[in-house]
Amino acid sequence: MRGIILAGGSGTRLHPLTRVTSKQLLPIYDKPMVFYPLQTLIDSGIEDILLISDPVNIGNFVKLLGSGKDFNIKITYEVQDKPEGLAQAFLIGENFIGNNNVTMILGDNLFTGNENFLKNVIQNFKNGAHIFLKEIEDPRASGVPEFDQQGNIISIEEKPKNPKSNFAISGLYVYDQTVVAKAKTLKPSARGELEIVDLHNLYLKEDNLKHSVYQGYWLDTGTFDSLLAASNKIAELSKKNN
Ligand code: DAU
Repeated sequence: MRGIILAGGSGTRLHPLTRVTSKQLLPIYDKPMVFYPLQTLIDSGIEDILLISDPVNIGNFVKLLGSGKDFNIKITYEVQDKPEGLAQAFLIGENFIGNNNVTMILGDNLFTGNENFLKNVIQNFKNGAHIFLKEIEDPRASGVPEFDQQGNIISIEEKPKNPKSNFAISGLYVYDQTVVAKAKTLKPSARGELEIVDLHNLYLKEDNLKHSVYQGYWLDTGTFDSLLAASNKIAELSKKNN
């Protein structure tokens, strides 16, 4: 199992915080944000990680994380020239992925409090794709699944105005090696991006999209308030654990 951290994007929603640095380098309590998704991959037993970021910020990630030897893992880097969608990561990462399965985590997604659950799913993954859901009050800013009466996912919508469930699709995804071939068939959406929802719909069509509900904390960092709340939560948890 290989790992990808996608840590580019424009971060315009957090200006001026992100005018001269990357969102994923902003502090979350006592560490740069990217440390948390990195730790999630490491805790899941992944030792070979590709970090993808934009041309302006990639150098700072190299400065911060280097070869990965401080974490006893290997980190390599690739540039995404323009933020042309989450699913573009699999085109950029084609050689890195090779014939392996791959777990991708978004560089601004924080998972804490149930590391063993993620590790278990990731280490026992066989084929298809696996997504992690979280029940939230208002999932309109997320990918949202629709379920049939047996609890199977029957459709997914990205940022729906009228969500068909209260579940958000988090930014942690596990795929088999067919992800690269599938990503190659995607066409840019109206907003010019290769959409992760389209990729998931391909797995859904093959009846090969699995899911589980994550029971730990999934912290969002998309707004000033959620960024601050994430820092406060991490501070609270790390003090409780010490
Ligand atoms: O956080 C989970 C959500 O992440 C999911 O529920 C959505 O289905 C998924 O589309 C995504 O939604 P966001 O609104 O958070 O997507 P955003 O465009 O903000 O990108 C997420 C992260 O990925 C962000 O840190 C920037 C980075 N990114 C984004 C794009 C489009 C890249 O590095 N390259 C890109 O091309």
